[in-house]
Amino acid sequence: MGPRTYAVPAGSGIEVAPRVRHQLRNHTDEDLEVLVVSSPRVSGNPLARRARSQQRDRSKLVVGSYVRRTRPRDLESVVEVEEAADTRQWVGEGGMDWHKQVLQDGDMEHWVLVDRLDRVYAFGVLAGLSEPGAVELRRMVVAPEGRGQGLGRLLLRHLLEQALARPQVTRVWLDVGADNVRARSLYRSFGFVAKEAPPGAVLLENGLYMEWSAQRH
Ligand SMILES: CC(C)(COP(=O)(O)OP(=O)(O)OC[C@H]1O[C@@H](n2cnc3c(N)ncnc32)[C@H](O)[C@@H]1OP(=O)(O)O)[C@@H](O)C(=O)NCCC(=O)NCCS
Repeated sequence: MGPRTYAVPAGSGIEVAPRVRHQLRNHTDEDLEVLVVSSPRVSGNPLARRARSQQRDRSKLVVGSYVRRTRPRDLESVVEVEEAADTRQWVGEGGMDWHKQVLQDGDMEHWVLVDRLDRVYAFGVLAGLSEPGAVELRRMVVAPEGRGQGLGRLLLRHLLEQALARPQVTRVWLDVGADNVRARSLYRSFGFVAKEAPPGAVLLENGLYMEWSAQRH
């Protein structure tokens, strides 16, 4: 850090002041896990970005994974993904009955992302498909063990393509927790913009309305 080198033992931390050049080295053959707490922006932190992209390069989960329509027999895995730690608090209502209803609702589409062995790693739901103009991205979740490897990107691209394949659809909107840094950063990188919610939109508590519009692209 700056001109000096510090040894940081396992379980301890080091504070890097703003604008101080820094670098992290691991001199062992063991994997190193680093927790970066960054203020104000996490996604702009080069160390955090590098750590994520290295993790992505190491795991090739994204190769061979694809998105397909959800079948009733996938729902157990879907609910398992939804109930996982660090997930439920970021999404609204859910559970087996909710997903069963979605599968039967002609106005909604339920999608799963599976790996080569057909294991469910993520799912997403589109809603409001019969309405002209705007489609809602109602939910998207990647299983904790699949995160940080590009699966969220793969799924979001697919959901957007599905929504925009309808000629009458020019906007895709969603509702994301204002403190959901990961999801907001993902949506922003696809061109979603935070806006004031239109009258009548029902948002999560602490929810932020974001929209992708063909007019901007
Ligand atoms: C949000 C979520 C879907 C992202 O899925 P993912 O597979 O981890 O995302 P990817 O690996 O495809 O990363 C895509 C982008 O997401 C953002 N992102 C992912 N992890 C991040 C993190 N830990 N910190 C900040 N941004 C992050 C980045 O913009 C990243 O792009 P980059 O790596 O080029 O910087 C996943 O974290 C999740 O399921 N979270 C819990 C449920 C949830 O919040 N759903 C959204 C409800 S609106």
